[in-house]
Formats: sequence, C-alpha cells, structure tokens
Amino acid sequence: MVDKVIQLRDISFYYRHGNRVLDGLNFTLRQGERIGFFGPNGCGKTTLFHLIMGLIKPASGIIKIFGGQVSEEKDFRPVREKIGFLFQNSDDQLFCPTVLEDVAFGPLNLGKKPKEVRQIVRETLETLGISNLENRISYKLSHGEKKLVALATVMAMQPDVLILDEPTAGLDTAAAEWIVEILNKLNLTSIVTSHDMPFLTKITEKIYGMSEGHISPADKATLHSHMHVHRGGLHPHIHSDEG
Ligand SMILES: Nc1ncnc2c1ncn2[C@@H]1O[C@H](COP(=O)(O)OP(=O)(O)OP(=O)(O)O)[C@@H](O)[C@H]1O
Ligand SMILES: [Mg+2]
Repeated sequence: MVDKVIQLRDISFYYRHGNRVLDGLNFTLRQGERIGFFGPNGCGKTTLFHLIMGLIKPASGIIKIFGGQVSEEKDFRPVREKIGFLFQNSDDQLFCPTVLEDVAFGPLNLGKKPKEVRQIVRETLETLGISNLENRISYKLSHGEKKLVALATVMAMQPDVLILDEPTAGLDTAAAEWIVEILNKLNLTSIVTSHDMPFLTKITEKIYGMSEGHISPADKATLHSHMHVHRGGLHPHIHSDEG
C-alpha cells in the first residue's frame, strides 16, 4: 500500500479575474492520518479540496494521489472511486429525484449488482439514522437532512479515504455527535474542514491552520475548552468558535 496518499507540491491557484487563492502550497496526507483544516472564510479550503478531486486545475505545481501524478480528467476518475468527497454545498452532491436513487447512484456506478446496492443503501441510511428519508424527494429536504443524505452518498461508495468539507455545518447537536461517532468508528484516512474546532479535535489527530494560501500546523497550545455562561446554555449545544 502506498504510504503517501495525497501529495501536493508547490501548488498555486487563482480563479479567473480573481486573486491568487493558493500560493506555493505543500501538503502530504499519509496512510492512516486524520487531518483537520481550520481557517477563515475564503482562505481556500474548498478550493484545495476541489483541486485534489480534479474539479479544478492548478496554475502550477504537482498533485500526486496514491503515488501517481494526476493532471488530466482520466487520471482523476479512478481517484474519485477511492476518495469519498463531501461537498460543502449538498446541492452539488444530490442530483437524483429521490434519496434512494442518490445514495444508490455511486455503488451502481461502481458496477455493483442492484440487489447488493439495495442492501448498501439500506445499511448506510440506517447507520446515519435517516432510513425515514429513503423515499423523500432530495431537493425538498431541509439543509441538515440534505447534509446527512450527501454524507450517505459518500459512505455508500465505501471509500478508502474521506475528504469532508464542513460535514456538520447546519446539523443539530445530536446529529453532529452521531457523525463524530461514525467517523471515529470508520477510522479512515481523512481530511476534514470545519469552523467548529471542538468537532475537529474529536475526529482528527492533527490540525493545520490555513491562511493566505498556505498551510501551517495549528499551535496545539491554542486548542482548549473553557467554562462559559450564556442564555440558552441549559440546552445541549456546540460552539463553532471556542476563541
Ligand atoms: N468560482 C469562483 N470564482 C471566483 N472566485 C472564487 C470562486 N470560488 C471561490 N472563490 C474565491 O476564492 C477564495 C477561496 O474560496 P474557498 O471557497 O476555497 O474558501 P473556503 O476557505 O472554503 O471558505 P469557507 O470557510 O467560507 O467555506 C474566496 O475569496 C472566494 O471568494
Ligand atoms: Mg469552503
């Protein structure tokens, strides 16, 4: 098995008519690592993920995945079968009329038999606690429901590696805790971005800060929890920023 799952060397990227988003960025994800990315809005986290998945191409630099250089669409196709990518915006992930069809799409595309796919869909929805959504119309789901179904479409592919862009944004406390449990049980090589630092610390072992197109290890000493008081505190809740 290849040790270096993802290698980015000297990656620069800018959107047309936009400023440079990534500037000589270097990053390596090794087998078994679970890495979190933390950074302000617009610092380039989603852009970086889209580059890794081949949805956009770097202006310069080299991307290697599973040890092989990837640059053209044909190089990325097999990558997408092994790396499960959760889009930040669930509407980019769900395109079938119903939840059942959306979750079945990936495994069917991998060539699995309809009977097996049926079983995978059932189990995946069950694991995520959303069996009740199976026959719902995808685009009519709530924001949080869409997020969970989008995660189901990723998990149904039974990927070796996970890249999750804001997996708990918009989820209630119980659903977010459930996601923590599922991800820790799966224990897959992964990269996750979130604005919720406590969540990130629960599901990753290393956190990188991202700013101005670069990645740097987050100072461990800044990660802490503290007592706090505020209105509504009796209800279970998650803080997006522990300051
Ligand atoms: N399609 C696009 N065309 C032009 N500029 C874009 C496009 N997509 C993103 N950008 C810009 O690139 C920068 C990086 O965006 P990106 O979505 O990667 O940030 P992010 O770190 O994921 O932010 P957030 O935390 O809000 O999700 C931002 O300034 C954004 O406005
Ligand atoms: Mg983003």
